[in-house]
Amino acid sequence: MAENTQNPAAGSAPAKPKPPAAAPAKPVAPAAPAAAKPAAPAAPKPAAKSESSPSGVFKPPVDRPAADPYKDAKLGIVGAWLQERFYVVTPIIDYLKKKEVPKHRLSFWYYFGGLGLFFFVIQILTGLLLLQYYKPTEAEAFSSFVFIQQTVPFGWLIRQIHAWSANLMIMMLFIHMFSTFFMKSYRKPRELMWVSGFILLALSLGFGFTGYLLPWNELAFFATQVGTEVPKVAPGGAFMVDILRGGPEVSAETLTRMFSLHVVLLPGLVLLFLTAHLTLVQILGTSTPIGYKEAGLVKGYDKFFPTFLAKDGIGWMIGFALLVYLAVMFPWGLGVKADPLTPAPVGIKPEWYFWAQFQLLKDFKFEGGELVAIILFTIGAVSWLLIPFFDRQASNEKKSPVFTIVGLLVLAFLLVNTYRVYAEYGW
Ligand code: HEM
Repeated sequence: MAENTQNPAAGSAPAKPKPPAAAPAKPVAPAAPAAAKPAAPAAPKPAAKSESSPSGVFKPPVDRPAADPYKDAKLGIVGAWLQERFYVVTPIIDYLKKKEVPKHRLSFWYYFGGLGLFFFVIQILTGLLLLQYYKPTEAEAFSSFVFIQQTVPFGWLIRQIHAWSANLMIMMLFIHMFSTFFMKSYRKPRELMWVSGFILLALSLGFGFTGYLLPWNELAFFATQVGTEVPKVAPGGAFMVDILRGGPEVSAETLTRMFSLHVVLLPGLVLLFLTAHLTLVQILGTSTPIGYKEAGLVKGYDKFFPTFLAKDGIGWMIGFALLVYLAVMFPWGLGVKADPLTPAPVGIKPEWYFWAQFQLLKDFKFEGGELVAIILFTIGAVSWLLIPFFDRQASNEKKSPVFTIVGLLVLAFLLVNTYRVYAEYGW
């Protein structure tokens, strides 16, 4: 669909209904047999204008249009079967055929949201397979991973794909977030696309954090200990730590907690916000960067169905090939089983997508510094979430270089700090 900044309701079923066939006057339904019991206590009379036939049968105030205005549309057998039951197949196909995606020199960046979605679907599928063998208890978690890796047919591949796809998904989401940021796609009326997207990124990071502990290996155990310790310095933080860990220490309770978050709560929340995000994508369509249309930089439009979707599909195939290559060539090790009684090994660090925050905490290692770092980071994250509401220029279709600079600074902060952790600890 071409960009729609005017009518957010665009995208509801397209107006193509057949005029309702001239309905022959319906015979009045036969009155209840005379022997029927006396009418039940008079039903409350329908509000104004409704008519009652002499037999007392309620007649709606207006003739309803045909329930399925698309009933004569050409469809395959399955489509027709579904259409008869849901009434929405034809309008949806019709809508997708009308939806268009603008073509310009930055169109490349439109593929990253779809790639994030693709890796998320892979996560759900491989996660369900892993669940068939994984045992979320302190005694069995590690050995069930060994069993998956060594005994279950293709178990090693499924595990590796799950681990790599998680990383690729988060990377795609970061690219997607910054590309939509620099194209100012968050501007009116797409504010909620940004907000729902930000929540999705936060939930995806939550997936990474909770999943890390599940193999119950040494590295994950101590990294979770460090990670769940962070809120402690904030007022009321000890309570937060207790909630996260299920007690004062990382223990079997923590594993149960992380497991339930990872396979129940987070997937549920992601599905909720993903539905909102993708519905908004369909309703509002894809934006063009500010000033592109006026400057004649939009070189036409791709039909979403089938052209853009086919191009998306090519991206997914490349993504899948990369995923299998990484999974086979660079497998994630399992390490050794966690032993809470041993001292933490040196060089414990979180997953790469938390390195920037990790470095920030390290830089603020003075008295009270960690709390300052947490406050700064929280203010930064909330401001980032609310960016569409601050950038009034962009919402008025005017360039907003100040926000571009802010975006560059945030990007530089993340990249430099991530690199610093890499330089100190290696991969
Ligand atoms: C699971 C996570 C996510 C999925 C599956 C997803 C998926 C998508 C898809 C398929 C599109 C349409 C095509 C495109 O422009 O790429 C889109 C658009 C958009 N997304 Fe996301 N997204 C996710 C997370 C995010 C995040 C983290 C942000 C930013 C904080 C975000 C902000 C946006 C915006 C502003 C658009 C509108 C783009 C435009 O109209 O030009 N999304 N998303």
